[in-house]
Amino acid sequence: MRIRSRIFGTYLALGVALIGMTGAMLYDTVGDEALAGVESRVETGARVVAASLEGWEGGPDEARLDAGVDALAAAADARITVVSAGGRVLADSEFDGRALAALDNHAGRAEIRAAAASGGGESVRYSRSIDADLLYRAVRVESGPWDGAVARMAVPLTRVSAAQAHARRELLTALLAGLVLTVIAGTLLARYLSAPIRELQGMARRLTEGDLAARARVDTGDELADLAMGLNAAAAALTEQMARTRAERDQLVAVVEGMAEGVVVTGPDGRIAMSNTALRSMFSPGGPVEGRTPIEALRNPEAADALDETSAPGQVVVREVRLTWPVERVLALHVTGLAAGGAVGVFHDVTSRKRVEEVRRDFVANVSHELQTPLTTLVGYGEALADSVADPVRVREIAVVIRRQSARMSALVRDLLDLSRLESEGFTPELEVVEIESLVRELSESWAGAAREKGLDFETGVEPALSARADRRLLYQALENLVENAIRYVPKGRRVRVEGRRVPGGIELSVADDGEGIPREDQARIFERFYRVEKGRARAGGGTGLGLAIVKHVAEAHGGRVELESAPGRGATFRIRLPE
Ligand SMILES: Nc1ncnc2c1ncn2[C@@H]1O[C@H](COP(=O)(O)OP(=O)(O)OP(=O)(O)O)[C@@H](O)[C@H]1O
Ligand SMILES: [Mg+2]
Repeated sequence: MRIRSRIFGTYLALGVALIGMTGAMLYDTVGDEALAGVESRVETGARVVAASLEGWEGGPDEARLDAGVDALAAAADARITVVSAGGRVLADSEFDGRALAALDNHAGRAEIRAAAASGGGESVRYSRSIDADLLYRAVRVESGPWDGAVARMAVPLTRVSAAQAHARRELLTALLAGLVLTVIAGTLLARYLSAPIRELQGMARRLTEGDLAARARVDTGDELADLAMGLNAAAAALTEQMARTRAERDQLVAVVEGMAEGVVVTGPDGRIAMSNTALRSMFSPGGPVEGRTPIEALRNPEAADALDETSAPGQVVVREVRLTWPVERVLALHVTGLAAGGAVGVFHDVTSRKRVEEVRRDFVANVSHELQTPLTTLVGYGEALADSVADPVRVREIAVVIRRQSARMSALVRDLLDLSRLESEGFTPELEVVEIESLVRELSESWAGAAREKGLDFETGVEPALSARADRRLLYQALENLVENAIRYVPKGRRVRVEGRRVPGGIELSVADDGEGIPREDQARIFERFYRVEKGRARAGGGTGLGLAIVKHVAEAHGGRVELESAPGRGATFRIRLPE
């Protein structure tokens, strides 16, 4: 039930009860009062009649008495009777002459009997002659000619009930008016009292709907006003607290978003509650991540298992997760159980570290292998040499092999040292102005013979006055590697051409041949260390796969780059571009 109805109901019930009680009391009183009024009138009337009989002048003339009684009765609007001490009716305002004489003896009437005995009497009786209850009052006459007679006055009680009815009507009207007033006053009071409560209620509702600006305006100056003030203060504190919490959360989100590591948080229900951009770019979940289970969103059983398994607060699980899609990655996953349930997982991309480790492992394996081969040969030939000291021809043969293998090892070690120097941190080439024409001439003088031996055309073409700021020794080594490759891998009768020219932003040195070229699938990896196209043949030719790696490092050490253009069967062109 609404508080307004309750106040109104209570007020109305109280009003009705009060009015009812007062009404009931008044109702009785009004009845009694009316009766008392009639009684005192009859009493007074009877006394007046008795007194006038006591002061009667002359003899006891009954005719005069009856006439006098008639006059008095008419004046008093009542019935007046005078009865002798013996009970005979001497006079009556209702009867005259014969009718009067025919009236029966009244000595037995209760009021007459009482008056004759004690001076006064009263009774109520039904009168057939007027068909109503009558109130009789009798008083004894104490002196004069009528001494001992009884004077009686009677009034019909219908007057009492008429007075009562009138009084009741008035009372009822008053009660109805009171009731109407109670309803009006009750309605107003209920509205007045419940208004601040409704105001508070409205504020509470707006607060729960999220409207933190909701305030209650109650100025009744009572406890409700105090309550409103308290609520307003609480709402203000809440607003402030919410703003602070929001700012903290925004900050946290910004921090998590800004992390290079992928972050995912699961809730107590095991579903993802939060993630950052890095995580989404690692796993490309193709849709929102929040609200899904780790296996649905991440589609990686290792990661999902780790997140699902970690449930105890503070429990830490460390795992390596491999992704094959959208790109191949190795992630170090660190999952920590949360006190509130769920877990937080941090994915750290260790792909490049893993690759470096792999490259290092491969490198050591490759170097060991490359050294192992000539060393085995050397050991074998060393033993053969010990057995063949007596045969000078054999000794010479063995010495040739030993020299070749040693030179091969020496070249390998030299290339390795060059590479490690180029790769070492803080390495800077010793720059000077290098005249390209003289550099290429020197190259041609050293290698033209070897080319001719193999039946190759060796050509050079350098733009006049071309120069570069470069480390002359390194640049020479790079070009030499390219020329050496061309001579080594291009079939007899073809052509090798070294060129130098200006290009926008720098210069370009190229070594082009019209050999068999390099298969397309090998082109991307050709500059890697130890990478060779045809492993068997290259090994037979003595290459170890370090030459192009050195060329690439030299170009990059100068801030330039190396490019390969080749199509199978249509030769290969390597270009070193150096900035100005
Ligand atoms: N001009 C070319 N024509 C065809 N194939 C080539 C050419 N240059 C290089 N290659 C291929 O590229 C591979 C890598 O060359 P790279 O110079 O790095 O190593 P290598 O010549 O085998 O050994 P190294 O130069 O260390 O003695 C070679 O093994 C060869 O198969
Ligand atoms: Mg080479």
